[in-house]
Amino acid sequence: MFTKLGIEAPVIQAPMAGVSTAELTAAIANAGGLGFVALGTFSVADASAVLDKTHALTDRPFGVNLFCHEPARRDFEHEAEWLQLLGPEFDRFSAKPPAELHEMYPSFRVHDDLLSLLIERRPPVISFHFGLPRADQLQALKETGAILLATATNVQDAQRIAQAGLDGIVAQGWQAGGHRGVFDPVDPARDEQMETLTLLEKLREVGLPLIAAGGIMTAGDRRAAMQAGASAVQCGTAFLLAPEAATSPDHRARLTSTKTQMTRAISGRPARGLINRLMQLDEARAAAYPMAYDAAKALSAAAMARGDHSYAAQWAGTGAAHAVARPAAQTLAAISG
Ligand SMILES: Cc1cc2nc3c(=O)[nH]c(=O)nc-3n(C[C@H](O)[C@H](O)[C@H](O)COP(=O)(O)O)c2cc1C
Repeated sequence: MFTKLGIEAPVIQAPMAGVSTAELTAAIANAGGLGFVALGTFSVADASAVLDKTHALTDRPFGVNLFCHEPARRDFEHEAEWLQLLGPEFDRFSAKPPAELHEMYPSFRVHDDLLSLLIERRPPVISFHFGLPRADQLQALKETGAILLATATNVQDAQRIAQAGLDGIVAQGWQAGGHRGVFDPVDPARDEQMETLTLLEKLREVGLPLIAAGGIMTAGDRRAAMQAGASAVQCGTAFLLAPEAATSPDHRARLTSTKTQMTRAISGRPARGLINRLMQLDEARAAAYPMAYDAAKALSAAAMARGDHSYAAQWAGTGAAHAVARPAAQTLAAISG
């Protein structure tokens, strides 16, 4: 799928909002893989700046990633209840919860300034997480000639991606670090929690090229995914200890020795990360995405001001124990080999 771009390695560096950097993306691109810039939480000015910075570090192609969740539906009563439930956690640091929550960043579905930037910059690969753009946005991006991908965690979402005429599917298994790309997170009971290899088997019938994501840490993991039908693999956790990543020192220190858990209590959407005190709360009561994330960030800031990192969102997949601290190009070579 990427050979026309000159990508040699069937290994993609996952977009990682807050963690991937221009340096990481460029290191992967320069080593023959496909790097991604995560634009999901960025303003147009920040997106423009990171694209400039990445282009300054590499002449090779790289992709961009966008969040396409349903635009936030505010429920101020529910948000106030969640803040009240978090009250005792703030008390531990003699801090007060924020008076109200904010939508920290818009969905791409309502961010047409960002669409205009992409039409102008013409990234060769664009991936969507949490759903799909509006039909007119998709048409405009198709007309740029970009290869278009979207994440699926189940057959229904994969079929919607195929019906929308995209070029490939990022098949994200239950092991994956970070946010689960499920389109509709409203009913967690309906989540089949399929692991990466099972998901690949199920998605083969959809007929689009598949990129396996979730728990790919070694060349053996990559081969198993490719035998199960993947054309390439997308790795996030494997790059968290790279010097080029913006992973925090505490996240790095805990990565290989701490268990991970899937939770909605941090952001309001299911996401897998290192054990965090918010995971002890009733996630079913969490405010909607991304408002809950605003609360979690305020709580984490209050805790960090007292030197306590136990509320920090430290996304990581189940393969975290196998992450190796080395330059990103070496990890790329190890997984490609
Ligand atoms: C720290 C972190 C941040 C992530 N942020 C994003 C993101 O911004 N966009 C996205 O599509 N996926 C994001 N993901 C998910 C990855 O695309 C991918 O599905 C996942 O990393 C694969 O599983 P692995 O972590 O076991 O390699 C993130 C993952 C991690 C670990």
